[in-house]
Amino acid sequence: MGGNCIPITIHRSLITDMLIHSATQLLTLSGGPQRGRDLGNLGVIEGGAVLVRDEKIVEVGSTADLRAAHPHEPTLDASGCVVMPGFVDPHTHLIWGGDRAKEFEMRLEGAKYLDILAAGGGIISTVRATRTASIESLIAQARPRLLRMFATGTTTAEAKTGYGLQTATELRLLKALLALDREGPLELAITFLGAHAIAPEFKDDPQGYTDLLTETMLPLVQGWWEVHAPRRQSLPFVDVFCETGAFDLAQSRQILTKAKELGFPLKIHADEFDNLGGASLAAELGAASADHLVVTSDADIAALAASETVAVSLPCTPFGLAERDYTPAQKILDAGGILALATDCNPGTAWNESMQFVLALACRQMGLTPAQAIAAATINAAYAIRRADRVGSLEPGKLADLLVLSVPDYRHLGYRFGTNLVKQVVKRGRVYSVDVGYYRTA
Ligand code: NIG
Ligand code: FE
Repeated sequence: MGGNCIPITIHRSLITDMLIHSATQLLTLSGGPQRGRDLGNLGVIEGGAVLVRDEKIVEVGSTADLRAAHPHEPTLDASGCVVMPGFVDPHTHLIWGGDRAKEFEMRLEGAKYLDILAAGGGIISTVRATRTASIESLIAQARPRLLRMFATGTTTAEAKTGYGLQTATELRLLKALLALDREGPLELAITFLGAHAIAPEFKDDPQGYTDLLTETMLPLVQGWWEVHAPRRQSLPFVDVFCETGAFDLAQSRQILTKAKELGFPLKIHADEFDNLGGASLAAELGAASADHLVVTSDADIAALAASETVAVSLPCTPFGLAERDYTPAQKILDAGGILALATDCNPGTAWNESMQFVLALACRQMGLTPAQAIAAATINAAYAIRRADRVGSLEPGKLADLLVLSVPDYRHLGYRFGTNLVKQVVKRGRVYSVDVGYYRTA
């Protein structure tokens, strides 16, 4: 190993059935998604234990009870540690080619994100790097991001296409995401984001690209998915970037309405820079989530709160763009909305894989308590990708996706940042030990 480095290595154990015991705090997050001011109910069991068998959680309770009931079970000692559900990251752009370090510097020198996009850079520059990359190269570039997510505690992530903006490349991205999901260990909820930007070929004809998406690409993706992902329970999500310079409200409605007719579950990028009404559209159409929500109006917040559409906040994005305004989380909670958190991991605005950093930002910039941030990053995040029946809490019947943190109190999450508090990740009952922090000079 050359140079100075702080490596992350992940070791996988072969034991899959076990009693994880003696957790200082076991956070169950039981009871389903947490709406409005109910957010932050961690269901803490002090001295807690979890029994894991066949990739699933069988029993949750006190260490004394579970050890007495299962004296011969292999054990994993979590003394001095917090045990909690794995993070669910419900908004990532995971798969792309190249990087935009140069644009970061341009922005620091005063250039604006939407101006760079209008000049053919931004998302479009990543589209150029993605179109010319092979599927092998795209997978190889995404894999370390996935491993960083996993090592920092994310056990399920949403992952979008959107840097192809032409049929062949968008399908290549879907194929790459399916391959990465099969490879594991992290599981992916996949989203088709052909409506991420106006394709460069349609620069002067945004309506033409919108029509291509609705008339040709969506039906094609539907048929392709049935052939290439036959065992999937449902179609991928369809998402739209509803924003000045991308898709206006009418175009977003056209795309999402067609997607809904074809049976796709929906998502939207709304109110990142301008308020176009995308959040209300998402609520009206029964979308799983509306994401970003920085300049969201009170009327949009009320519409979200009256719906099952999850408000997904992405605090890494204003942080990454060095902007002042964040999601009005307190207003969303006061109104009774379902709030979740995600990384938005992407090369333009927020190249960060760690949900722990998202929590630290949400506590400081949106006034969430650590308990609220944890619930927003687990059970509510699972609801935003329609997997709250499988992941996001420690309850019998759910997947054994959980974290052993190297801290005795959950409030270290949010409080500490820029470091990894995960000691072990358990994914479908397999234990992965994360060794971080040993430092060596060549
Ligand atoms: O969610 N806003 C649109 N999409 C991404 C940014 C993508 C990019 O700049 O490459 C986002 O912030
Ligand atoms: Fe995004």
